[in-house]
Amino acid sequence: MSRLLVTGGLGFIGFNAVLRASAQGRSVVVLDNLKRRTARRNLKAYRKLAPRGAKLVVADVRDAGAVARVFKRHGPFDGVIHLAGQVAVTTSVAEPVRDFEANALGTLNVLEAIRKHSKKSRLVFASTNKVYGGLDWTKIARKGERYVFRHPAGGVSEAAPLDFHSPYGCSKGAADQYVRDYARIYGLGTVVFRQSCIYGPWQYGEEDQGWVAWFLIAALRGAKIRLFGDGRQVRDVLFIDDLLELYDRGLAHPAARGEVFNVGGGPSRTLSLLELLGWIRERLGIRPPLERHGWRPGDQRVYISDISKAGRRLGWKPKTSVDAGLSRLADWLKSGRIDFA
Ligand SMILES: NC(=O)c1ccc[n+]([C@@H]2O[C@H](COP(=O)([O-])OP(=O)(O)OC[C@H]3O[C@@H](n4cnc5c(N)ncnc54)[C@H](O)[C@@H]3O)[C@@H](O)[C@H]2O)c1
Repeated sequence: MSRLLVTGGLGFIGFNAVLRASAQGRSVVVLDNLKRRTARRNLKAYRKLAPRGAKLVVADVRDAGAVARVFKRHGPFDGVIHLAGQVAVTTSVAEPVRDFEANALGTLNVLEAIRKHSKKSRLVFASTNKVYGGLDWTKIARKGERYVFRHPAGGVSEAAPLDFHSPYGCSKGAADQYVRDYARIYGLGTVVFRQSCIYGPWQYGEEDQGWVAWFLIAALRGAKIRLFGDGRQVRDVLFIDDLLELYDRGLAHPAARGEVFNVGGGPSRTLSLLELLGWIRERLGIRPPLERHGWRPGDQRVYISDISKAGRRLGWKPKTSVDAGLSRLADWLKSGRIDFA
């Protein structure tokens, strides 16, 4: 039975990863500091569902000693999925030092623990498309309810220049480069996934992070949605199950070692804010009240990942259509099992 550590394991992606791994019969150690309200909500579900073979350790990745202890007591691990961190750009602007400590230092602590106590572990790191910054070099056009890329037509590839914007972009970008370099310098089996928008069950979206879930939650609760810009902003969106399928490949596939991959729904799975509102109207029969605001600084008109490298090297491609994924998220939100208190 393989042994897995999931840091940030009570967050949206982490909790899904824990449920999947325990269903696969893996033994899982879940590390989370429980500071996020969303993690405390998922803790209730964790206790109820009690995933088989999972053990929860409350610890903070900013604390090198605590991270090392997890490896000494519960390791070595065959795989580590490192997700713990500060996730919102807005929070990073308000608290850049805390953001740096959670994302950059926290990742270095995980890398050091692997290097010293679990050298054979494969590591998946959840990086972000924000490492590509404002994408001033792209060319965009307006088309109906959305913006489109004229260049690069196939989406942003891993060859795009790094250009860290915002403290979040800097802290994740630093971590991204450390993860990559630990493969070169120390021979660790790491892989970096630069993720676009991920959505799915166990996501309690908020206005500044997880917009797909946030729109659905607001609509179902009858809350007002604040719409920034003209609503034609486009992102590629990836359903959680497709991401986790890729994580499995990242942990196992020899071609993943030391590599960086852009990850998202790619050009065939994209959504603008207005299109999501249209979907909510058509499929859920809800017209959420909107409050219009101007553009937020740095809000990209379009971001679409070129995911062809992950397809070529790891044989991965997303399976869930946008319509199917949104329906599954909406069904989960309507199931009444979620406690938004
Ligand atoms: N969800 C997305 O669309 C997306 C996109 C790009 C990158 N990412 C990255 O993926 C990872 C997971 O994202 P998510 O959406 O599941 O976020 P999330 O906020 O739901 O999960 C993060 C978890 O980490 C925990 N955590 C935070 N700081 C910690 C610390 N110092 N020590 C220990 N635990 C800590 C939180 O309690 C939370 O449970 C993050 O690193 C994020 O930057 C996510």
